[in-house]
Amino acid sequence: MISVIMGLQFGDEGKGKITDFISKNYDDVVRFNGGSNAGHTVVINGNKFKFHLIPSGALQSDTVILGNGMVIEPEELISEIKLLTNANKKIIIKISSGAHIVTKMHKLLDKKEESIRSKLNIGTTSQGIGPTYEDKYARTGIRMIDLSNKNILKNKIETIYNMKMELLKDSVYSDEQERNRMIDELYNMGQSILKYMDYTEITVNEAYNNGRNILFEGAQGGMLDIDFGIYPFVTSSNTISGALSTGSGFSYRKVDKVIGVFKAYTSKVGAGPFPSEIINDSTLRDLGSEYGTTTGRPRRVGWLDLPLLKYTAMINDVDSLAITKVDILGKLDTIRVATKYILDGKEINYFPKRLEDFDKLKLEYKEFKGWGNIENDADIINNGYSALPEKMKWYIEFIENETHKNIDIISLGEDRKMTIVKQIFN
Ligand code: GDP
Ligand code: IMO
Ligand code: MG
Repeated sequence: MISVIMGLQFGDEGKGKITDFISKNYDDVVRFNGGSNAGHTVVINGNKFKFHLIPSGALQSDTVILGNGMVIEPEELISEIKLLTNANKKIIIKISSGAHIVTKMHKLLDKKEESIRSKLNIGTTSQGIGPTYEDKYARTGIRMIDLSNKNILKNKIETIYNMKMELLKDSVYSDEQERNRMIDELYNMGQSILKYMDYTEITVNEAYNNGRNILFEGAQGGMLDIDFGIYPFVTSSNTISGALSTGSGFSYRKVDKVIGVFKAYTSKVGAGPFPSEIINDSTLRDLGSEYGTTTGRPRRVGWLDLPLLKYTAMINDVDSLAITKVDILGKLDTIRVATKYILDGKEINYFPKRLEDFDKLKLEYKEFKGWGNIENDADIINNGYSALPEKMKWYIEFIENETHKNIDIISLGEDRKMTIVKQIFN
């Protein structure tokens, strides 16, 4: 079985939790996009793991692969490898020789670029993601393999510095000695991580040929995609299922199943249009502890947005849905779901590319009653779907009817055990 799991909203849908839950069925878990802008939380019997770079399937699979589409900050990588090897000593880690390296200079550039954007400020995670992808496409980027050669590192850092001098001239990196220190640091970190480096496009295709089960784990969410998200309030990589091919060297034609994860409501970190946002009421944010895993920033929250979900389900070609945080949403007395987008009096099924159109956009909503606190945990764990409150089932079945997709996995708590499978699933 070859599957890919993707976020269908603005990130933080609970992909980490669902990936961990299903990864027991897979031998290899592969990440193929983004970097430590991602923050994925996995909770097992109260023990919390936060992954930014390492795939969230790492606790139950044999091998994890960090593909060429990723941008990797070596210091963060080293600390996550430590965390992981303490928790699951047998795991095999492989990192693509072509993955790009994020340096401290890229992180500084990220902040500097944000300060220049003014009104179109994105609210990035300040993890250096954008500037690293800029260098990748400018063909000046540092790749994993370059960590093995100090001269190449020197050459590349100088090239990046010269290209971005206008932004860096007042920073510590205007001092050549500081740049040299960074090069030494990168080289030294390389010494401890190069042993994980591999030609992972070969590894993953060989794994397929050997009949292994492979799960591709997407970071971020469909509405943060550089092409199909609400540009420019997006991340710098493609965050849709098709990106697994360019981000790992494995053909999408071999994928059996696309699993789309969405929250029972919507959340977003950072700036930009958020059509179903709940303004001036932090109840849902507080109930759901909606604070960023990476930055700790309060997340903006809103109602489930069906036009958005249908759009990302289409772009990702989703076969099966997983819903999370149903326990949280049910605590509200009244729940709303956005069902239609109306622009200039007409229903639309796309996302406006003209930002001003979002000011004119009208949403239609349907209301549901909350299902209260979940108090029959053991009953639900033992008996699954049939033990769910009726009002929750109406909500779930309404979404299935609207999207024409099955919701096969239902998550009712942060812990791995609070997950039920509606239909036979593997
Ligand atoms: P990801 O980026 O998509 O992996 O999601 P994050 O881990 O950044 O954010 C999701 C948050 O919700 C994490 O704190 C999870 O532990 C938590 N979570 C996931 N699923 C559920 C759920 O069904 N119920 C509750 N209460 N929390 C959940
Ligand atoms: P996971 O994988 C939520 C958002 C940032 C910002 C925009 C661009 O945990 O779902 P970037 O640092 O990528 O240049 O920021 O994208 N963003 C995320 N929001 N979850 C994420 O990842 C995100 N990764 C990036 O908040 O609005
Ligand atoms: Mg997250």
